[in-house]
Amino acid sequence: MESKYKVLDKKITDSKVGGGKDRIEAQHKKGKLTARERIHFLFDKGSFEEIGAMVMHRSVNFGLDKTKFLGDGVVTGYGTINGRLTYAFSQDFTVLGGSLAEAHAEKICKIMDLAMENGAPVIGLNDSGGARIQEGVVSLGGYADIFYRNTLSSGVIPQFSAIMGPCAGGAVYSPALTDFILMVENTSYMFVTGPNVVKTVTNEVVTAEELGGASTHSTKSGVTHFSCENEMEAINHLKRLLSYVPQNCEEKPSVLDYEHGKDETREGLDKIIPESSGTPYDIKEVIEGTVDEGSFMEVHKDYAENIVVGFARLAGRSIGIVANQPAFLAGVLDVESSKKAARFVRFCDSFNIPLLVFEDVPGFLPGTDQEWNAIISNGAKLLYAFCEATVPRVTVITRKAYGGAYDVMNSKHIGADMNYAWPNAEIAVMGAKGAAEIIFKKDIKEASNSEEKWKEKEAEYAEMFANPYNAAARGYVDEVIKPHQTREKLIRAFKMLENKVATLPKKKHGNIPL
Ligand code: HXC
Repeated sequence: MESKYKVLDKKITDSKVGGGKDRIEAQHKKGKLTARERIHFLFDKGSFEEIGAMVMHRSVNFGLDKTKFLGDGVVTGYGTINGRLTYAFSQDFTVLGGSLAEAHAEKICKIMDLAMENGAPVIGLNDSGGARIQEGVVSLGGYADIFYRNTLSSGVIPQFSAIMGPCAGGAVYSPALTDFILMVENTSYMFVTGPNVVKTVTNEVVTAEELGGASTHSTKSGVTHFSCENEMEAINHLKRLLSYVPQNCEEKPSVLDYEHGKDETREGLDKIIPESSGTPYDIKEVIEGTVDEGSFMEVHKDYAENIVVGFARLAGRSIGIVANQPAFLAGVLDVESSKKAARFVRFCDSFNIPLLVFEDVPGFLPGTDQEWNAIISNGAKLLYAFCEATVPRVTVITRKAYGGAYDVMNSKHIGADMNYAWPNAEIAVMGAKGAAEIIFKKDIKEASNSEEKWKEKEAEYAEMFANPYNAAARGYVDEVIKPHQTREKLIRAFKMLENKVATLPKKKHGNIPL
């Protein structure tokens, strides 16, 4: 028996070294951790159970039969993260460049299936040269098996992808199908075709970093939700993100202990809105001034900054926040901000995370660029996402709520449960200046001093509509509150709504304007 134990011990030891000492050193030299080091830092100490450490590929193509590694370039298993069951796979770049083929894909699929059956999140730590070229079509099949599972798992269990090295070709589509992507600056990149193909096809000269690095995808494309300085920051972000979400779509997020009556009144909120309604202010001050201290975690921070989305806690409860940002493009809704917010709303709704909206929106951004880039269909995404969301939904209008954007930003008409407005709120079809120009066109034209007449009519319109009281008179706004009361009102409202049951009409699935 002892000799059999020795065989086992040797195999276990061999399985831990991946592609060997030299390749591990090369990995470290690039500033990257190994697949196992990442797992070590991600999971609670000693909790990770590896599955399939002895799996090997079955290919004999191009001498692969002489190049076999225990585990086949991916570490898979389960453990706990802050005490909660989580599944993960971590690709090992030291083994055949972390490339994916039949056996590697089977290992990933196995833990994805277990995660679905047991209702727990899956985290993918990606570091791979893509489809293993020597294994041919089985590599492509392996990817498709994963994509299929990503899609079926979507909205059932939360899925996270951290990109910690290359992620190229069709390989990008697994992360793209998951809920959140995190990238590491300077050591990770994602693209469908790399710089060489780009040069051949379009004659553009571009580096891998410019084409698909973390800063590109966090600012220009919005593909990644987080751009992290290093791998440890990415791992810590993953842990924090997990803390706001439940295990699966049947559960609610966990609630932290909270001592009521300590800091419900937030006087600081009274000082944020400028006197002039045209002056910008930072909506993040409103968010941070309202939620539990230090609890706001912004998502998609550097992309479409005219809308702010992220997670926070209110009296210990997890909430998703969507807020117009008057400090960037005056907080208008445009193509990118609509897509960004729509995706976030749908994530929160999938996983029972109540939605809080802070609204200060002058309308949709006009222009050929917007129209030709389909602001109609893209704005409709946000509208659709809110209309369909059945989680508790509360809106606070901090200043402007104009035009179609008033409807879209979680108005009561499309299913918001409670709608508060601050006393300076302006809720109308359009700004007073433009409105006066249209409806008093004749008066203005015929006046001896047109400019003065216009100003007079502008003031008349503003007096009538640039306030929250017309909306309040019809119940579109439930209550006009002073800013310092906001936190307390919201805590009570979300508590009141905690057992909300709302159902959608029976259907196979809706047809969101994609
Ligand atoms: C097999 C691969 C591999 C791959 C890398 N390796 N990628 N083996 N299949 N796809 C191996 C290398 O041969 C090398 O082995 C080791 O991994 C490390 O690779 P290096 O090139 O030395 O590393 P580096 O210089 O850091 O470059 C990394 C890289 C490069 C940029 C990722 O390896 C690369 O361009 N690989 C090919 C990428 C690619 O075209 N993949 C297919 C994409 S298409 P040795 O033994 O020499 O150390 C795709 C389709 C998916 O993925 C479709 C799904 C629908």
